[in-house]
Amino acid sequence: MKFNIVAFALTLVSILLLTSNSAQACEASCQVGISKAFSDAYTIEIDSIFSKFVKDLSTSSLFDGVKIHTSLKAKIVDAITSSIKNQKNNFEGNLVDLVKNSIFNEKPRFKGQCQNPLRVVQPPAGVNWTLTDCEKQDYICGNPPAICHFMNGIVKPRNVNDINSAFASMVNSASFLDTVKKGIESAASNGGLKGKDLDNAVNGITNNFQKTLPGFNKTFVEDFCAGIKGRNATTCDKYDDNIKSILLSFP
Ligand SMILES: *[C@@H]1O[C@H](CO)[C@@H](O)[C@H](O)[C@H]1NC(C)=O
Ligand SMILES: *[C@@H]1O[C@H](CO)[C@@H](O)[C@H](O)[C@H]1NC(C)=O
Ligand SMILES: *[C@@H]1O[C@H](CO)[C@@H](O)[C@H](O)[C@H]1NC(C)=O
Repeated sequence: MKFNIVAFALTLVSILLLTSNSAQACEASCQVGISKAFSDAYTIEIDSIFSKFVKDLSTSSLFDGVKIHTSLKAKIVDAITSSIKNQKNNFEGNLVDLVKNSIFNEKPRFKGQCQNPLRVVQPPAGVNWTLTDCEKQDYICGNPPAICHFMNGIVKPRNVNDINSAFASMVNSASFLDTVKKGIESAASNGGLKGKDLDNAVNGITNNFQKTLPGFNKTFVEDFCAGIKGRNATTCDKYDDNIKSILLSFP
């Protein structure tokens, strides 16, 4: 009987330990929360890269070899701009999932127990982790301080790399160009072009637009959260403090 009580007590203790262990992982709400914090920051940067691209479009060689009226040119630029904006919004709508995958599914993953060896103690409910916890949690596991510790070394570079690849595949996809082409076609047709004139204009402008895409990809990769020359820093570091404070508020 006495033995049973001891066994029971031991079981209870291990259940409690297990429960508190699992509370150390960045769980679903934390995973979405931190991914959203990154994604909100990236959206600001991506908006500005797209704005610049679209602004440069109207002065680019979009109409080389295409003879149409100036007022129609303006309408076609508007159509292209709006098509690009829609596709940008879709891209940004996928960022939370993309960042979540980058942090929690790609290797090394920020998953798993943080007890061996124990570096930080889970704060009581309602109390945030601290930046000191980030320093102490010096190996990869599932708690928020681990993500914070490896933010510059692993988390941010991996996010940026994944976003650059996702951007390149979007901008090089047949559907990206096709959607823009449809926009051009409907603006040109609404503007009164028909038959061969319509085909020539749509094909000419679409080809000219397509030629700007490698440059857009290159600019994006060069500009997005880019390293700052001569400094160990990137243009996205300005978001770090806010992202960390959100991250450290999750249990
Ligand atoms: C996009 O640009 C980067 C950097 O210039 C390059 O490495 C990559 O191959 C490009 N991707 C495509 C699909 O053009
Ligand atoms: C760059 O800064 C990070 C921390 O932000 C540090 O871990 C790393 O060692 C630094 N690298 C160099 C080359 O100074
Ligand atoms: C925890 O962090 C969150 C997010 O930064 C903040 O709003 C909250 O006030 C912090 N809580 C405490 C108790 O400091």
